[in-house]
Amino acid sequence: MQIAIDGPAGVGKSTLAKALASHYGMIYLDTGAMYRGVALLASREGIAPEEGAAMDALLGAMDLNFREHDGKKSLYNHDEDLETAIRQPEIAKIVSAYASLGSVRQAMTAQQQRIAAKNDVVMDGRDIGTVVLPHADYKFFISASVQERARRRYLELEEKGIAQNFDELVKDLAERDRKDQTRAIAPLKKAEDAILIDTDHLDAQGVLEKIIEIISK
Ligand code: DC
Repeated sequence: MQIAIDGPAGVGKSTLAKALASHYGMIYLDTGAMYRGVALLASREGIAPEEGAAMDALLGAMDLNFREHDGKKSLYNHDEDLETAIRQPEIAKIVSAYASLGSVRQAMTAQQQRIAAKNDVVMDGRDIGTVVLPHADYKFFISASVQERARRRYLELEEKGIAQNFDELVKDLAERDRKDQTRAIAPLKKAEDAILIDTDHLDAQGVLEKIIEIISK
């Protein structure tokens, strides 16, 4: 079985996808983490998105993989744990520029499809229902206003001890949405056959229950 979850930044896709994966005993694949991993590794090596040959070499040398410890999944490159580094706000600011590259999308999409071919998966991202898993059994597009998403992201980062200015968060989310929606390849978009779930007035448990109810029908 394949469940595709798409939607803008900070809408609660990963919380929902993790809960669904645990409910149905499926694998959860956080595709945003992979794009964040690419952005982190490139910026560390000082490779700008425009440097095509250097980006190709980086993509060829990297080995992004997920490992689980105490029920928590982390993104690794080879044997290096990248999880804390990819969640920093500096990475959120630069990731769209790398995620818009055809070479990056091709490599990530191929890896995501290989994982989905071997496992039952709940995958979350921006292009899962449209590009990565066009034949998914269930497709959901999760939405919420930018103010509500900033409020949620603020609380999430606060819990992790990462301080943020609320207005900056609103600005960053709006800018990231704009870049993700307007890029030429695989933009953030609701698949025609995806079910739209507006979560402005629903908490995480409410969204989960609504989706389980839809699937059980
Ligand atoms: O979901 P997230 O905030 O961790 O995603 C990080 C970035 O990666 C986001 O700005 C858009 C990009 N992304 C993408 O282009 N395609 C995906 N399937 C998932 C994420």
